[in-house]
Amino acid sequence: MDDPVQAQYEAYPYPARDPRDEARRLVTGSPSELAEVNNYLFAGRRDFSRPFRALVAGGGTGDATIMLGQQLADRGGVGEVVYLDLSTAARATAEARAEARGLTNITFVTGALEDLPSLGLGTFDYIDCCGVLHHLEDPAAGLRALAAVLNDPGGMGLMLYGEYGRTGIYPMQAMLRDLGRGLKLEDRIGLARRLMAALPETNWLRRNPYLGDHEKSDAELVDLFLHSRDRAFTVPQLAELAGSAELDIVAFVEPARYEPATYLGDPNLLACLEGLNRVERAGFAEALAGNIKKHVVYVAKTGTGNGRMARPERPEAVPILGRLPAAALAGALKREAVLKVDLDGVALRLPLPGLASEIVARIDGEKSLGEIHATLQEHRPTLDWLAFKAAFDRVYEALGGLNHLWICYTKCP
Ligand SMILES: C[S@@+](CC[C@H](N)C(=O)[O-])C[C@H]1O[C@@H](n2cnc3c(N)ncnc32)[C@H](O)[C@@H]1O
Repeated sequence: MDDPVQAQYEAYPYPARDPRDEARRLVTGSPSELAEVNNYLFAGRRDFSRPFRALVAGGGTGDATIMLGQQLADRGGVGEVVYLDLSTAARATAEARAEARGLTNITFVTGALEDLPSLGLGTFDYIDCCGVLHHLEDPAAGLRALAAVLNDPGGMGLMLYGEYGRTGIYPMQAMLRDLGRGLKLEDRIGLARRLMAALPETNWLRRNPYLGDHEKSDAELVDLFLHSRDRAFTVPQLAELAGSAELDIVAFVEPARYEPATYLGDPNLLACLEGLNRVERAGFAEALAGNIKKHVVYVAKTGTGNGRMARPERPEAVPILGRLPAAALAGALKREAVLKVDLDGVALRLPLPGLASEIVARIDGEKSLGEIHATLQEHRPTLDWLAFKAAFDRVYEALGGLNHLWICYTKCP
């Protein structure tokens, strides 16, 4: 095995997963949850009971593959997931997880994503590629290979490392290369732990409290500090990478992290940014916050009109509370109509309208805005649509900005 990246993921499949855990939980997350994909890429209008092909490129131990496979199976079984990875060890874990769940809608393939155009796997409505492109010798060539098998309409969910939030990692990697010359990977893990314990207070890694993955497992530590090939991207570099494969970034997740007004209260400074486009604003927000260590973006082919985000414009729109429990959130908002969030050290307090708690309590992924309004009117007869919609829009702006609220116009995933 000549490729050091392949050798690393054979020895340390990523992330560390035990197939027995499938009995007690489904790992979900961004990107690629079906309702989220529908929200950001298909204007909330994709009917997942129709055939849907998803590719998970560099699927690792299977998180996205299993999530998509399970969610598609739950919706009637016509969707299909193709898992592709170089590592046979990672694939073995992913296959065991699928087997533990009895999923039969996944095809497992061992291979390089750069070879996709010639692998004969067909084309895909959605492609997940997380934590992979930044490990390739030529990320742009990898992304072009993915774009070559993307359907129209269709889109991708990508995760790539963010440069500023990873402050401290690259000097650590360089030191560990010096210390570990000639040693095997497993011996360098011990060195990494010793160096971690000996870092002076001024070291950037010690001063960056938002990097904790290495504490979870050896696989995570290797991925963070001992990787043989890894680079990070700023927002402008990410936009350039997407452009080189004729793709546009259609959404950054969470959207609020990429909005300067999330961090800046000074109206004069904000006014100076008015001429910037969406990607430029995102780049400004990234430089300002300094803590974005991973970029999650949805991309779609340039100029196709694909990748439109769903908007809560009409009474038929169905709001979906992503991964937040509605009852608990409604209870908290009843006590105080303020959404409190910590974005890796940035404490946000987002004031919400008095109706927020009652609105959130009614969001069940099935009721439309029109129906939610009607149930509220039962005990508030004077609440007209415009007043309700104004209150909902503020809830949507806050929760949607944090990727907790999605919109759907068809039978919702
Ligand atoms: C950091 S892991 C991410 C796994 C998974 N996507 C996740 O987010 O949990 C990177 C994975 O990409 C795979 N990989 C690296 N280069 C690849 C390539 N050129 N083609 C296919 N898979 C690749 C590795 O084997 C590894 O399993």
